[in-house]
Amino acid sequence: MIRLALRVDRAHAEVALAELLELAPGGVEEVDLGDAVEYAVYGPPGELPLLPDLEAAVGGALIDVTTSELPDDWSERWKAFHTPLVLGERLAVRPPWEAAIGAEVELVIDPAQAFGTGAHATTRLCLELLLELADTEPAGARGPLLDLGCGSGVLAIAAAKLGFAPVAAVDFDPLSVDATRENAAVNGVRLDVARCDLRSDPIPTAPTVLANLLRPLLLDYAARLTDPPRTLIASGLLTHETDEIAAAFAAHGLREEDRRERGEWAALLLRA
Ligand SMILES: C[S@@+](CC[C@H](N)C(=O)[O-])C[C@H]1O[C@@H](n2cnc3c(N)ncnc32)[C@H](O)[C@@H]1O
Repeated sequence: MIRLALRVDRAHAEVALAELLELAPGGVEEVDLGDAVEYAVYGPPGELPLLPDLEAAVGGALIDVTTSELPDDWSERWKAFHTPLVLGERLAVRPPWEAAIGAEVELVIDPAQAFGTGAHATTRLCLELLLELADTEPAGARGPLLDLGCGSGVLAIAAAKLGFAPVAAVDFDPLSVDATRENAAVNGVRLDVARCDLRSDPIPTAPTVLANLLRPLLLDYAARLTDPPRTLIASGLLTHETDEIAAAFAAHGLREEDRRERGEWAALLLRA
């Protein structure tokens, strides 16, 4: 197992992270070094993203690159990096090796190689808005929901457990489609999971849509939208991108009902 670490300057760290997550959707370890931030990916030789691609992703923010062979405790380090997410007593997301937490809604998500352990700020913000949304509709009347870019399936599974039905989930990455199906089975929920490239395939729709995608894909989605949902949770934005994304969907009659921020990341709850 190799640990490949890129040290970047703090001022550009969040932008660099957004780019790195495109190449390493399974997650990136973050180490705070004061004026710099180190982002590390783990993998066997030959399965890591290519170094030139990683360097291009972080661009001018790059300070240093280091690679190390991991000692025998690497699997423990990997586990320590995937810690549970707990949103009060309402909702918890934990990897399979962590003991039950006892939240009202509890998800077991194996991060495998897909994005979405719940630990990333963008996923967390979506889950917070999803809980808020669920509270506005009576249980049993929450209706159909679609998760665009489902990764590990964490959002779709949370939605199904919160009473949205039926729930569909799409991603262009076959590893994400497989991970979502497996995680749905482990969590005992029914999902309709399909492969779909949001840039070129017809995009399904539903009254409620979750879209934890990065800015370019959200803008693309807005540009191709012909049948807007009644409710959209858009996440994966940097805070300075939020107004632009809100405006792109306002053109389809979706107005901003809530905006949440966590660090440099933001998410929007938009409604017709
Ligand atoms: C930020 S992750 C979100 C994952 C998960 N929904 C979550 O909230 O943790 C974005 C997901 O979008 C998927 N994605 C990226 N480009 C895509 C495209 N063109 N079509 C479909 N899915 C795409 C990625 O594979 C990734 O799983």
